[in-house]
Amino acid sequence: MARFETEVLHNVKKGKLPIKSKVTPIYQTTAFTFSDLDELEGYYQGQGNYLYSRVGNPNTDELAEAVAGLEAAPAGVTTSSGLSAIMAGVLAIVKNGDHIVAAEDLYGGSFQLLKEELNQFGIEVTFVAFNELEQVEAAIKPNTKLLYTESITNPLLRVQDIEEFVEIAKKHELITLVDNTFATPYHCQPYTKGVDLVVHSATKYIGGHSDVTAGVLVGRADLIEKARAKVVNLGTNVSPIEAWLTTRGLKTLALRMERQSKNARALADALVKNPAVKNVYYPFEQGENGYGAIVTIELGNTVDVNEFFKNLSWVKIAPTLAGVETSVSHPVITSHRALPQEARDALGITFEVVRISVGIEHAEDVIEIFEQAIASALK
Ligand SMILES: Cc1ncc(COP(=O)(O)O)c(C=O)c1O
Repeated sequence: MARFETEVLHNVKKGKLPIKSKVTPIYQTTAFTFSDLDELEGYYQGQGNYLYSRVGNPNTDELAEAVAGLEAAPAGVTTSSGLSAIMAGVLAIVKNGDHIVAAEDLYGGSFQLLKEELNQFGIEVTFVAFNELEQVEAAIKPNTKLLYTESITNPLLRVQDIEEFVEIAKKHELITLVDNTFATPYHCQPYTKGVDLVVHSATKYIGGHSDVTAGVLVGRADLIEKARAKVVNLGTNVSPIEAWLTTRGLKTLALRMERQSKNARALADALVKNPAVKNVYYPFEQGENGYGAIVTIELGNTVDVNEFFKNLSWVKIAPTLAGVETSVSHPVITSHRALPQEARDALGITFEVVRISVGIEHAEDVIEIFEQAIASALK
C-alpha cells in the first residue's frame, strides 16, 4: 500500500480485458501505455495500435470505419467538426500555389474556410456554378488540383450530377471532393461513383441528435493517410466521447433518414400547394419517398417573415439541421451570412428563404404547424 497521495492515483482498477461489453466502451484516455521499450518501439514499427489519442483512438477509429463502410470507401478519418474534415481533405490535396474550383453555392462556413483561411496559405479558389459544367471546365487552370462540391447543396438543395462531375475531373486529371452531409450515405454514395474524397459534417445526420460536433472524411486510402497526418499535425481530432456518441447516433441513420425524408417529402408536397409560399426547393424528382430531409421555402410577399418564425410553436429556430426534432433556420442571418449579398442574391438566397430541417414527428403535425404559422403571419 503506497501513501494516500500515490494510492489515490493508482488504485483505480483498469478493466480486466477481455470484458465482452456489447458496445465498445469509451476510451476516454489521452494516451495508451506500454510495458517496456520493446513494446513502445513496436508501435512505431506498426505492431501496436494506439499511442496517443490525438494520433488515434479506438472510438474515433470505430466511427471512421463505420462511415467509410457505409460510403463503400476503403478508409476514413474523424475530425473535430465538419469544417476541420473539409480542411484536412483539402490540405491533403493542395499546397501553396495550387488552385481549387469550388461550387459557388457551398455552405457559408466552407466558403469562408476556402476564401479567408486557405487563401492565406497561398491556395487560390475560383467559385463557379456547378450546375453549369461548362463553367467548371472554363475555370480549370494549369495549377488546378481539386474540384469541390456538395451532393445536395445548402440551402437550395441543388442535386449535383456526380457522374458528370467525376467525368470532368477525370478528363483534367483532378481530384474530387464531395460534401455528402445533406444526402448522407443513405441516399447517395459519391465514392462508388468515382469521387476521391467524401466529407461529412457528422454534427448533422451522422450523429443525428444535435448533441455532438464532429466530422468524417472517407475515400481513397492514400489520400486519407495524408489527411490523417493533417489532423494529427493540426490537432483537429475529435474527442473519444464525441466519437462514441456519434457512432451511437449513426446506428439509427437508416431509420431516421427513411422517416425524415418521407416527412420532408410530405411537407414539400403540401407547401407547394400553399399560395403564400413563393418557392419550394426540394429534390422532388429524386425519389417518391423523399430525397433528404431538408425542405427550403421562399415565403411570398404576403407573409411577414418574422411573424412566421414567431408562430412556429414547438418547431425551434436553430442555426443547424438534421436533428430528430423539426427545426428551422434563416440562411441569410446565419449559415449564409458569410456569403456576400450579391452572391446570395444571384443564388436566390433572399431574406424570405427559410430552411426547414424535418424531423421524425408525425408528418401531419409537421404540415399543420407550418400551414398555421404561414396563415397567422399573413399581412
Ligand atoms: C453541408 C455542410 N458542410 C459542412 C458543414 C460544417 O460542419 P460543422 O459545423 O460540423 O463544422 C455544415 C454545417 O452546417 C454543412 O451544412
